[in-house]
This record gives sequence, C-alpha cells and structure tokens, in this order.
Amino acid sequence: MEPIPETMMAWKKTKPIEGGFELLETKTPSPKHGEVLVKTHSTSICGTDIHIWKWDDWASENVPPGTITGHETCGTVVSVGEGVTTHNIGDKIAVECHLACWNCERCDEGNAHICENGQIFGVHTDGAFAPYFTIPAVNARHLPENLPIELASIQDPLGNAIHTLTGGPVADSVIAIHGLGPIGLFAVNAAKAMGARFVIAIDWDNQMRMDLAKKLGADVVLGKNDDIIESILSHTDGKGVDNSCEFSGSPTALSNAIHSTRMGGYVNILSVYGNSLTEVPMNDIVFRYLHVKGINGRKMWNTWDKMHELLNSNKIDINALVTHRINYQDYQDGIELALSGDCGKIVMDF
Ligand SMILES: NC(=O)c1ccc[n+]([C@@H]2O[C@H](COP(=O)([O-])OP(=O)(O)OC[C@H]3O[C@@H](n4cnc5c(N)ncnc54)[C@H](O)[C@@H]3O)[C@@H](O)[C@H]2O)c1
Ligand SMILES: [Zn+2]
Ligand SMILES: [Zn+2]
Repeated sequence: MEPIPETMMAWKKTKPIEGGFELLETKTPSPKHGEVLVKTHSTSICGTDIHIWKWDDWASENVPPGTITGHETCGTVVSVGEGVTTHNIGDKIAVECHLACWNCERCDEGNAHICENGQIFGVHTDGAFAPYFTIPAVNARHLPENLPIELASIQDPLGNAIHTLTGGPVADSVIAIHGLGPIGLFAVNAAKAMGARFVIAIDWDNQMRMDLAKKLGADVVLGKNDDIIESILSHTDGKGVDNSCEFSGSPTALSNAIHSTRMGGYVNILSVYGNSLTEVPMNDIVFRYLHVKGINGRKMWNTWDKMHELLNSNKIDINALVTHRINYQDYQDGIELALSGDCGKIVMDF
C-alpha cells in the first residue's frame, strides 16, 4: 500500500457566495476512535451539492464555510481508528452520509436516518471532495459482491430511490415517477427490478432523461406536452396509480401526483421544494384517503439490505445511469454540467 500523504488537495467551500469553492492543500485527516480513514475512489455530484454551490438559504444555514463537501462516495479503508473491529485495511466501502448518535429515541426505534442529533457527512462535517476522508466505521458500508468499486458511490441516490418507492407497494403495482433526475431514473429502474407491473415516468422537458427512462424500463414516458393527470388516469382505467413518487421539486408535479393516485394509494415525496409553502390539494388527500409521506435519506439498514439484494440480482443498470466520469480536479466543470441537466449521474474519480 502506498504511504498516506501528510497533506492532500481538497475542494472547500470557502466563500459564502455562488461558486465559492477552492482546491486547497489540507492536512490528511486521521481516524478518531470508532472511525476509519478511507482513500477516496470516486465521489458523485448530487443535487445537494448544487444547493451548496448556489449557496441558497438552506446551504447557508447548514454548511459551515471552509467545509470539504461531497457525500456520495466510496473507497478503500487505509487506516482504522481505536475500537474498530468491523473493518480492516483494504476493505472496499461506500458511505451512508447520515451520521447518527445511536442513542436517541429515533435511533432506538430504527429511524437513525432522522436521528435527533444527526449530521450529514459532507454537509455539516468534512466530506469526500478530497482524496482521503474519515467516517464512523458503521457508516462505511461494505460493498455487495456484484458491485464494482467504480459504481459504488451511487448507492446514496439509488438508496434514496428505493426508500421512496418502498414507502408504498411496489411489486405487482402501478407506479408513477415524477421527475427524471438521477434519483427518479434510479427509481424507474428499481421499480421494474422490484417487480412493478407498470411504470409511468414523467419529466417536464428533459428529452435526454426521458429517453433514458424508456431504456431503463419505463412502460410510458410523459412530458410537458401531455396532460399528465389525464394520461395517467387513461393508463389506469380512470383509477390512478398505486404509488406515486415525487422527485422533481415542482409543486405542479406534486399536485399532479396527488390527483393521479388511486383511492387509498400512496404518495411518497423525496423532493426538496424551492418554496416550502407549496400549495397542495388537501381535500383530495382527505377524501381519497391518500397516504402522503415525506422521505429522507435511506433506512439504516433496511434500505441498504434491500438495495444490496437488488444489486446482487444484477437487475439495476447503473452503467446506463452514470453518463459522465471526470477527474475530481474538474469539479467545477462537473457542476456546470449538472446545472445544464444534460446528464444522468456525474462521477468524479480520484
Ligand atoms: N429528502 C432527501 O433525503 C433527498 C436526498 C437527495 C435529493 N433530494 C431531492 O430529490 C429531488 C430529486 O433530485 P435529483 O438530483 O434526482 O433531481 P434533479 O433536480 O436533477 O431533477 C429534477 C427533474 O425534474 C424535472 N421536472 C421539473 N419540473 C417537472 C414537472 N412539473 N414534472 C415532472 N418533472 C419535472 C426536471 O426536468 C429534472 O429532470 C430534488 O428535489 C432533491 O433536492 C432529497
Ligand atoms: Zn446526495
Ligand atoms: Zn440518534
């Protein structure tokens, strides 16, 4: 194994403005008690990184200036801290970015992803837009057998997609996916892999992503030129789908989802909305007895277990979804590309 360098070049959000990142020489971290030090293999760019790039209200309230951001990541353990018995040097891992205390009521009831004392790696703490990072050993998840390290960083968004889908029925069910960003596209693929009967994929005008949805198994793809509610009803005998998943962040899409879910059906929402005070057709929710659920992160560890089962069954086509690979030095180009929307998942190699 090559020696661990004393310093490394890391992307830090140094200025509280749009952009505001610098590639700076920084001390390589060392693992504290219960942590592992990981040599980064790759880190993908996420919608959250766009919020941090733009420095919107959410970012300025959550990211301490000077933080090394980046949370969708994977790599090889190169050093283990005191007390770590679960990991060895050389282990290949991917990160669960929700850092939990494992000691509060939410953690005790199996909801560590919404830990009362939780933090997000690469948002509240230093993350993985850097060649090395430290992480609690429990958050360093060993890879499933069939997943090559090159693709392992995408388990964070794939897990988001699976967590959202499993907020309602999937097998033998009719599913609508609203918003075909990387997570929506993963959801199209995962829904099919989990045995959905019929999958309707909806975007606004991103033709590249709509074509990709078709390739990933969507039975029908709709866009801005379609009457979304009417089209969904016409494919479901006028009843609506069993399970609508919202990944667009558009209030229109949320309203469409509520209006096109069957009586007693499920509406699962992962999106973050620009304006939190989004109008929702409340009486439809009430009289049609809809189960509306907010989704955050991934269940620790039910979602991961389900995801590893799916990945080992080779039913998820990650290669189709990773449309771009770049060197981490070109991070700013990666952000420009993500902003343009002409991409699936962008992965940065180290
Ligand atoms: N809750 C969580 O834990 C969590 C985690 C990660 C991401 N998110 C959120 O999930 C969402 C999805 O992220 P992403 O990176 O995959 O998406 P993205 O933002 O890259 O893509 C959104 C897509 O929705 C499409 N769209 C816009 N208006 C639409 C409409 N009216 N109907 C249908 N589609 C429409 C856009 O064309 C785009 O392709 C984002 O809002 C993100 O902030 C939440
Ligand atoms: Zn993410
Ligand atoms: Zn907790």
